[in-house]
Amino acid sequence: MLDHSRAPLYDALCSHCSHSRGNYHVPGHKQGRAFDEEGLRHFRSILEIDLTEVGGLDDLHDAQGVIAEAQMLAADAFGADRTFFLVGGTTAGILATILSMCRHGDLLAVQRHSHQSVFHACRLAGVQPVYLGTRLDPDTGLDSGIDLRQLDEVLRRFPQIKGVVITSPSYFGVVQPVEAIAEICHEHGVPLVVDEAHGAHLHFSDRLPLSAMQAGADVAVQSTHKMLSAMTMSSMLHVKGDAIDPEDLVTWLRVIQSSSPSYPLMASLDLARRYMMTRGREELSRVIGAALRLRERVSKLAHLEPLVNQRHDPLKLAIRARKRISGYRMLEWLERHGIYAELGDHQSVLFVFSMGTEESDWALLWETLQQLDQAIPDMGEESPWDVPDLRAWTLADRPLHELMAAEKTVVSLRSAVGRISGAMVVPYPPGIPLLLPGETVTDEKVSYMERVVERGGKIRGLSGRFPLRLSVLQ
Ligand SMILES: Cc1ncc(COP(=O)(O)O)c(C=O)c1O
Repeated sequence: MLDHSRAPLYDALCSHCSHSRGNYHVPGHKQGRAFDEEGLRHFRSILEIDLTEVGGLDDLHDAQGVIAEAQMLAADAFGADRTFFLVGGTTAGILATILSMCRHGDLLAVQRHSHQSVFHACRLAGVQPVYLGTRLDPDTGLDSGIDLRQLDEVLRRFPQIKGVVITSPSYFGVVQPVEAIAEICHEHGVPLVVDEAHGAHLHFSDRLPLSAMQAGADVAVQSTHKMLSAMTMSSMLHVKGDAIDPEDLVTWLRVIQSSSPSYPLMASLDLARRYMMTRGREELSRVIGAALRLRERVSKLAHLEPLVNQRHDPLKLAIRARKRISGYRMLEWLERHGIYAELGDHQSVLFVFSMGTEESDWALLWETLQQLDQAIPDMGEESPWDVPDLRAWTLADRPLHELMAAEKTVVSLRSAVGRISGAMVVPYPPGIPLLLPGETVTDEKVSYMERVVERGGKIRGLSGRFPLRLSVLQ
């Protein structure tokens, strides 16, 4: 039994600070001695532990001391055989995993509704993706994940596939049946990688669906900074079994991540693990109860409703107006009232809760949602949004890096309809590409993009705003 009341990396930083008499190393701010005076008000205590690989502080890229120990404790806490700390977010873990699994020209099955980092990884690895379609729940309009029969069909048809990459939970909190998906993958002898950016908390409550590690995934990459208490950019990569060579992972992580990883970020991972293993379960249970009570109250409002799928993380609350009003407009209304939600989309606004959500936050949100509910009847109804259908599986006709490097020309977005996209076009958030290089530009997708921009939403991958322009293959 490991002692989870310890935080070896954080403790080593503290003991270094009390032991050190002379700092003759980087970083140049020298623990805050050379720094903007006004900024010190916020930065002082963090700068004191913003150190480098000196004394007993170990080295992330060749961990043998306190970082190795902290990673071991994390593996034990999250049910993994091995855990790697990440300072480049889940993005870095996804890149390293896919680069470790695949060589140029390999096929990889990838959920089409994936975060852009998955496609960036395919591009870097020279992978030719087979995209797994995604189903939209007809009642809630939420992405409910891949179709198990389709996964089986794809793995039968392409026995050379090197692995499967899915996202669970989704940004909106829908958790896929990872146990069943892992079973199918393992029957076909391929590893399952789960982008669990939004699910680092799942492991710590019986009231939540199973985490990917509990459900039999080979790799899970989690943004510890999203749903747990680590600092932004701090994530973990968990590995179970031997489907992926840890030495390959270490090598790719060295390639992708800075050779000067931030100690405050790494220590925040150590402390996030300790928090969960000491008081986190209790805190999580408290917040789940409160979130479910709020969801229940919202379901009784006259003009707003919560969107809930099967296996839904209660810490994500998406609300939709019963009449057609986009999430962008509701988000605007909320921000005018000083309330900042995670995101708005064509149909809903998403609120994210965590163990940091306090009594006063629940009360404030409930009061605000009642006011929004009363404001809805005065908002004009919008015309329907056509949501692009991504149900079918497809094989990219070339590896992604070839498509990205192909000869292209830039045309107005409208005149791109019917042509082949040369760009990755990504509404952000949630960061899931609407168009990938090699995909046909449809009228439905163009109309969707035009409406997102019209509503003030952000889209990466288009050039120019008036008119919107898109790069297409020649
Ligand atoms: C589903 C999903 N995967 C991966 C990422 C990337 O995570 P990070 O910001 O930790 O790099 C995100 C970020 O929003 C995400 O939503």
